Amino acid sequence: MFVQPVGTCEVINTEIVCVCACIIRRALNGIPEMLKDFTSLFLKHTMPSRKHLTPELVLRLVTPECPLWNSPAEESPFKDPFWAFYWPGGQAVARYILDNGYIVKNQRILDVGCGCGAGALAAAKMSAKQIVANDIDPYAVRATIFNANLNNLFTETNTRNLIGKSCENFDAILIGDMFYEEEFANYLFEWLSKLAEKKKMILIGDPGRHGLTERRRSQMQLLAKYDLPSDVCKENNGFTQSTVWTLRHGNN
Ligand SMILES: C[S@@+](CC[C@H](N)C(=O)[O-])C[C@H]1O[C@@H](n2cnc3c(N)ncnc32)[C@H](O)[C@@H]1O
Repeated sequence: MFVQPVGTCEVINTEIVCVCACIIRRALNGIPEMLKDFTSLFLKHTMPSRKHLTPELVLRLVTPECPLWNSPAEESPFKDPFWAFYWPGGQAVARYILDNGYIVKNQRILDVGCGCGAGALAAAKMSAKQIVANDIDPYAVRATIFNANLNNLFTETNTRNLIGKSCENFDAILIGDMFYEEEFANYLFEWLSKLAEKKKMILIGDPGRHGLTERRRSQMQLLAKYDLPSDVCKENNGFTQSTVWTLRHGNN
């Protein structure tokens, strides 16, 4: 399988570091080469799936039923397709929003690192006033638009690196599964803390990645803990639960 969400401690030092190095590299350099035929490749290699924590949302993903799941990396037409998976942290944030719609209703929501777009789509479903699905990977944004259409929902999209920006036009920031590398986690947490001081609601979904350290967790409030469906556990090498946290105002 070419890029698989990873969960066990044993693989953190290898696969996760690799994944994060790619993410940071892309944040710095941008995506190298655009596929001209992304749409047909996306439709060929993904399948609509509801086998996750938010079956209300149908999402086109690379699932174990897709031939690409077991293909070697060099046979994949996509490079680092994080958008092709629905990460357990993102699943928890979307579940939390669907169960507590009042927190996003009439709010302006930014889903940073949207991947397949589920966080943004959950907010759209629960009547947020404005939703922007943001990812530095343009394919993630394309996948998000596909998934929005599949669910008859709408989200705006953008591919700018907004980490570090003031985000004045948003009331709430969604972060799904972005704490798996220390350097990136430092940068991300510092930014989110500043936004929380400005009274923005921060929702962080995380299955227990090592970047969400004990110290960081002590500065946050646990909002929800979910058991992951068995298919998701199998696909994520050992994670069985995922959590949602919010950053308390006035920590720093
Ligand atoms: C692990 S995936 C999580 C995707 C989705 N939130 C989920 O939980 O399913 C992390 C995503 O963050 C994106 N990303 C990395 N750095 C970013 C940045 N600086 N701004 C926006 N997106 C970023 C990656 O392209 C990738 O799609």
